[in-house]
Amino acid sequence: MIFTTLIFLIFWFSVPECLGNSLPNGGNSSFYNPILPGFHPDPSCIFVKEWDNTFFCASSSFNAFPGIPIHASKDLQNWKLIGNVLNRPEQLPELAVSNGSTSGIWAPSIRYHDGIFYLVTTFVQDKRAADDASRWDNIIFQAKNPFEPSSWSNAIHFNFTGYDTSPYWDEDETAYVVGSHAYHVSAGIHLNTVNLETGDLGSDWIDIWNGTGGLAPEGPHIYKKDGYYYLMIAEGGTGLNHMVTIARSKNIYGPYGSNPANPIVTNANTSAYFQTVGHADLFQDASSNWWGVALSTRSGPDYLTYPMGRETVLAPVTWETGKWPIWSNVSGQMSGWPLPPTDTGIGGSGPFITAPDDLDFAPGTEIPAHLLYWRFPVGDSYTVSSPGHPNTLRLKPSKLNLTAYDGNYGGPGGQTFIGRRQTDSLFSYSVNMDFLPQVEEEEAGISVFLTQNHHIDLGVVMLPSPNATMTSNLIPYFRFRAISSIPVPDPIVAPVPSNWTNRVLTMEIKAFNLTHYSFSAGPADAQSQMQTIAYAPGALVSWGFTGTLLGIYATSNGGNGTTDAYFSSWKYTGQGQIRN
Ligand SMILES: *[C@@H]1O[C@H](CO)[C@@H](O)[C@H](O)[C@H]1NC(C)=O
Ligand SMILES: *[C@@H]1O[C@H](CO)[C@@H](O)[C@H](O)[C@H]1NC(C)=O
Ligand SMILES: *[C@@H]1O[C@H](CO)[C@@H](O)[C@H](O)[C@H]1NC(C)=O
Ligand SMILES: *[C@@H]1O[C@H](CO)[C@@H](O)[C@H](O)[C@H]1NC(C)=O
Ligand SMILES: *[C@@H]1O[C@H](CO)[C@@H](O)[C@H](O)[C@H]1NC(C)=O
Ligand SMILES: *[C@@H]1O[C@H](CO)[C@@H](O)[C@H](O)[C@H]1NC(C)=O
Ligand SMILES: *[C@@H]1O[C@H](CO)[C@@H](O)[C@H](O)[C@H]1NC(C)=O
Ligand SMILES: *[C@@H]1O[C@H](CO)[C@@H](O)[C@H](O)[C@H]1NC(C)=O
Ligand SMILES: *[C@@H]1O[C@H](CO)[C@@H](O)[C@H](O)[C@H]1NC(C)=O
Ligand SMILES: *[C@@H]1O[C@H](CO)[C@@H](O)[C@H](O)[C@H]1NC(C)=O
Ligand SMILES: *[C@@H]1O[C@H](CO)[C@@H](O)[C@H](O)[C@H]1NC(C)=O
Repeated sequence: MIFTTLIFLIFWFSVPECLGNSLPNGGNSSFYNPILPGFHPDPSCIFVKEWDNTFFCASSSFNAFPGIPIHASKDLQNWKLIGNVLNRPEQLPELAVSNGSTSGIWAPSIRYHDGIFYLVTTFVQDKRAADDASRWDNIIFQAKNPFEPSSWSNAIHFNFTGYDTSPYWDEDETAYVVGSHAYHVSAGIHLNTVNLETGDLGSDWIDIWNGTGGLAPEGPHIYKKDGYYYLMIAEGGTGLNHMVTIARSKNIYGPYGSNPANPIVTNANTSAYFQTVGHADLFQDASSNWWGVALSTRSGPDYLTYPMGRETVLAPVTWETGKWPIWSNVSGQMSGWPLPPTDTGIGGSGPFITAPDDLDFAPGTEIPAHLLYWRFPVGDSYTVSSPGHPNTLRLKPSKLNLTAYDGNYGGPGGQTFIGRRQTDSLFSYSVNMDFLPQVEEEEAGISVFLTQNHHIDLGVVMLPSPNATMTSNLIPYFRFRAISSIPVPDPIVAPVPSNWTNRVLTMEIKAFNLTHYSFSAGPADAQSQMQTIAYAPGALVSWGFTGTLLGIYATSNGGNGTTDAYFSSWKYTGQGQIRN
């Protein structure tokens, strides 16, 4: 039944990942959005001729670690994770004590200048008051070679009571930084000169534009073209009213005149499936054609089910001399400028964004660059092929579960969890689990994880048996439970079938249909016996700033358990993108 339903869905919704590049309309191309599906919000992209005509895109990572993924492409279609800017705890130790589901790394800006890659971003403690300067930690990372994670520097801090900071170099080599002042305090885009090597600021922050009156003017970038400084920002908040607006001035400090055609791109007040279009960046390809990237949410205007959160979309932009840039509207299928020729010759360690996972954690291998923890991994909680357990990933249980104390703070010991981004509307994710719990409330399993306050879990947990005997009063149960900001299904607690205990189990999550996940389990060596234990709506994990991760966890749920869980045969397969 499950099988036939999926076949049906694949038939209807699966489309090829890459259309042929060229269509007969004057050499223009056709392509699909999103270009970076899944949790890849607040994109910033550049084209670097000096690095073999490569495009580089950065996106926000909030509390996830490694953080600030960099994807590279030579053809704007095949995007490869080449590494993560934030890949060592010493680069930004504060991430360990990040407090809040919307805290962590917000909105990076990537730029290349004089042989150096700069990544300017903000580490936000979102539970602190907006006018509390300690809420906003603005930082600069630099690298000479972004394909080499160790090339990225430690954070260089600079003082700005705001976020979404972005660097700009004028023709006279003066370096500026532009950012969004904490809007609860005093709305506006502020500009300063900065020493990007030290974080020293040149003068006071100057308010240069307040936008067109929309909520939260933010995400600013400056471009110079035809004698004008163009200041492009986002307004409306990162929900259904999100939009991109632009102003220009002959002087970098203003006054800035607003484009009469603002907003230049938005899907607000439309019925489009791609909503919340905003937070954009612009760049030119080798043929001097302009392109824009923005974030968008595949939710439709009802905005209820969008577990992958804010994703990165691409649009052609027409920008004639002396005129304002004109964006194409964002949708699932686009046409516009010719794409660069297909070229997948890209270095770096991570996978292409559309690649499936088939991980066996072989001895001597490392955890791949696209797997994520929630904040830093603690101690030896994650070990590839530990002694006596080849081809497994060993998880040591954290005392606290995925929610922890208050759903905001990690707590000492963190949460033992490792996952990957959900990157397809329809997918199948499975992993084999060898876990023999001994102590009450010891638990290991699989999760759809959005934040500590939004996750859906299926685990095996040791609980008292109603049929307690003198020798054994604890037995393993399957336990399904969810936590969200909307009502959740009742937990399901069911004994693991007696002939499944002491065996390796396959644990599986699927996008069961357009609105629901299914959670299944069965013996790894008898998969025909797989049973679906629960269904859960994707709406439970459609919230806030992040996007869903699919992964595994181990916890003692506050108890004394220390039993390790061994995971193997980690598989993820995309089964179709919904684009309209
Ligand atoms: C995290 O933020 C919440 C909400 O403001 C607060 O109650 C809690 O004490 C904070 N936790 C830590 C460890 O700072
Ligand atoms: C940061 O700047 C604010 C004003 O913009 C100032 O009040 C504060 O003292 C500065 N903090 C540091 C550490 O320089
Ligand atoms: C932005 O608005 C503030 C008041 O909210 C005002 O003081 C400031 O002058 C405005 N800035 C610009 C550049 O118009
Ligand atoms: C969408 O419609 C609302 C209500 O009419 C309006 O306030 C808002 O400005 C519109 N947004 C855009 C981007 O057009
Ligand atoms: C984008 O769509 C809007 C209607 O939602 C339309 O008015 C506008 O002309 C379109 N823009 C382009 C460049 O096609
Ligand atoms: C090709 O795409 C560009 C960018 O969207 C557009 O301005 C132009 O009109 C298109 N040309 C044709 C022939 O469709
Ligand atoms: C996790 O632990 C907290 C605190 O011990 C508890 O309140 C919560 O019910 C547990 N469950 C989940 C699903 O997080
Ligand atoms: C407890 O025993 C009853 C009666 O034998 C049986 O129906 C039930 O399945 C048992 N429960 C468990 C959790 O083993
Ligand atoms: C487990 O027991 C069920 C019936 O309770 C049976 O159908 C199944 O074949 C058994 N599985 C194995 C692997 O022995
Ligand atoms: C998806 O499946 C769930 C569980 O069977 C069901 O409740 C829901 O209505 C289905 N949604 C759609 C769009 O078919
Ligand atoms: C953990 O162990 C301590 C010491 O043996 C004991 O007092 C406590 O009750 C145990 N906690 C749980 C939740 O079992």
